[in-house]
Amino acid sequence: TVRHLTRDDDLTPAEQAEVLALAAQLKAGRHTAAAPTPLRAPNGTQRTVAVLFDKPSTRTRLSFAVGVTELGGQPLVIDGGASQLGRGESVEDTTRVLDRQVAAIVWRTSGQERMDAMASVSRVPVVNALTDQFHPCQVLADLQTVLEHRPALAGLTFSYLGDGANNMAHSYLLGGALAGMHVRIGSPETFRPDPAVLERAGEIAAETGGSVQWTADPAAAADGADVLATDTWVSMGQEAEHAARVAPLVPYAVDEPALARAADDAVVLHCLPAYRGKEIAASVLDGPQSAVWDEAENRLHAQKALLTWLLERSG
Ligand code: CP
Ligand code: NVA
Repeated sequence: TVRHLTRDDDLTPAEQAEVLALAAQLKAGRHTAAAPTPLRAPNGTQRTVAVLFDKPSTRTRLSFAVGVTELGGQPLVIDGGASQLGRGESVEDTTRVLDRQVAAIVWRTSGQERMDAMASVSRVPVVNALTDQFHPCQVLADLQTVLEHRPALAGLTFSYLGDGANNMAHSYLLGGALAGMHVRIGSPETFRPDPAVLERAGEIAAETGGSVQWTADPAAAADGADVLATDTWVSMGQEAEHAARVAPLVPYAVDEPALARAADDAVVLHCLPAYRGKEIAASVLDGPQSAVWDEAENRLHAQKALLTWLLERSG
């Protein structure tokens, strides 16, 4: 059966660990003669991966295009607005046309139900490259980054401050729980995580030895954290609500006082793009504990690993 990554918990804890191990291996062996090219057919033909965008992107577009190329394939990057999808052709019909010609479909869109609809009909792996609800590729890259600073993920405290209701918060809850981490979300009451996601993450954490917690107290959330993460206060599609969103989120900024509450060697993450002086202080983003450029690079390695793994398992 075909495997997809529509949300973080499409992988089991063991499977997530396999993908992360492969990501580290691919990073170390990049450009060597031994680097695998699973997207090159036996006769030398390059298989194609469709990478569709209904929302803007820099990192995701770049890393999938580069990654598919490095795996021996050819990326076909399509802007939703320039395709019939943008004019109302159904997700299902689009998928049925694509899956006969490409090896995998990567999609950034709005509602998670659209991603689920694609995965329900696709005969090739579907990868969520961000929806309003989840951003699982980013969290794989983030976990790879944390592993570059810690011997293991299980037992670490992963704290996220800011908009607790967005895609990053939800994917940190699920992905962090899978990894056996203690995931803390600090956000205002009005920006708290989807209760269904919090509950699902709690179930996963109960199996992996991790835990999940939401708190409205930003100091309590940051206290002793091994990882301190944040994200924009205004996600794509929320631009009209800018002013109303920013004011209540100010106390949840990842600034010097917040960093001082975390562990001395805490790793700072931000999926980018970042807004210095808003959700993160410039001195923190550009400071010695920030791993954000490695994090952005690791999108490449984590996604190469993910595509390799999904194709292998869908065989
Ligand atoms: N972090 C991330 O997904 O960045 P882009 O929106 O630039 O792809
Ligand atoms: N939460 C942000 C992430 C961007 C990569 C957004 O959805 O815009």
